[in-house]
Amino acid sequence: MISFTADQRFIVTGASSGIGEGVALLLNELGATVIGIGRNEERLLAMKAKARFPENVFLEQKDLTEDVAGLPAYVKQLREKYGKFQGMAYCAGVAQVMPLRAVELADIHAIFAINYFAPVFMAKGFADRRNNNGGRSSMVFIASVAGVHCSPGMTSYSGSKGALIATMRSLAPELAPAGLRVNCVSPAFIETGMASDIERAYAEGKYPFGLGQVSDVANVVAFLLSEQARWITAQNYIIDCRGI
Ligand SMILES: NC(=O)c1ccc[n+]([C@@H]2O[C@H](COP(=O)([O-])OP(=O)(O)OC[C@H]3O[C@@H](n4cnc5c(N)ncnc54)[C@H](OP(=O)(O)O)[C@@H]3O)[C@@H](O)[C@H]2O)c1
Repeated sequence: MISFTADQRFIVTGASSGIGEGVALLLNELGATVIGIGRNEERLLAMKAKARFPENVFLEQKDLTEDVAGLPAYVKQLREKYGKFQGMAYCAGVAQVMPLRAVELADIHAIFAINYFAPVFMAKGFADRRNNNGGRSSMVFIASVAGVHCSPGMTSYSGSKGALIATMRSLAPELAPAGLRVNCVSPAFIETGMASDIERAYAEGKYPFGLGQVSDVANVVAFLLSEQARWITAQNYIIDCRGI
C-alpha cells in the first residue's frame, strides 16, 4: 500500500483545479505534506478545505510564467520556508486547439511558457541537491496523450507536451546518478475544468469505459512518487482506454 509521512513534502503545481487538485488531495490523504501552487487563491483555499489533513497542506499563489528564469530561485525560497522536498508533481498547464492558419508566435510562446518552460525550470530548482531529499526523490510531469498521438489543430499543445516528454527522457538519465527519478503521465480525456462542453460531447462515446476521472490520473502519479516505484524512471505512462 502506498503511504507517505508528513515529513515527506511534495510540490504540486496546478493544485487549484482538476488533476493537480486531485493529486494534492490524494498525496495529503496518503500522509504527505503538500505545497500546492496555483494562481487562484479562492480555488486553492477550496482545495485545502477538502483535504483530509488540512494542517499538512500549504498554499502558494503564483503565476509560474511571470518569471520562468527565476523559478529555480523560487523553489529555493520554498525549500527555505518548508524544508527539503521528496517530490514534485507538475500538473499546471493549459490547452489550445487552433488551426495552423490562425497560430501566431505569441500563442506558441504562451502555451510553451506554462506547459514546457515552467516545468523545465521548476525541475531545475527541484533537482538542485540542496532542495530535495537526495536519493529516492522523484518528479512527475503531467504531459498528454496529445504529445504522442496527435490530432489536427494541436500545433502548440502537442508540441509543448511532446517536448516535455522528450525532455523528461533526457533528464531521467542525467539525474539518475543523484538518485532522482523523473517520469511523465500522459492522460487522454479527463473530466476537469479544462474541458469545454463541446469537447466533452465530442469525446463521449469514444471511450469504452467512459471519460477519464481525475482519480484515474492521481493514483498513477501517487504511485510514481512513492517508494513502490523506486525502479521506474524515464517512462511516459499513457492513461487511456482506447487502445491507440
Ligand atoms: N483534462 C484533460 O483532459 C487533460 C488531458 C491530458 C493532459 N492534461 C493536462 O493535465 C494538466 C492539468 O489539466 P487539468 O485538466 O487539471 O486543467 P485545469 O483544471 O484547467 O487546471 C489547470 C491548472 O493549471 C494552473 N495554471 C494554469 N496556468 C498557470 C500559470 N500561468 N501559473 C500557475 N498555474 C497555472 C491552474 O491554476 P489557476 O486555476 O489557479 O490559475 C490550474 O490549477 C495540464 O497540463 C493538461 O495539459 C489534461
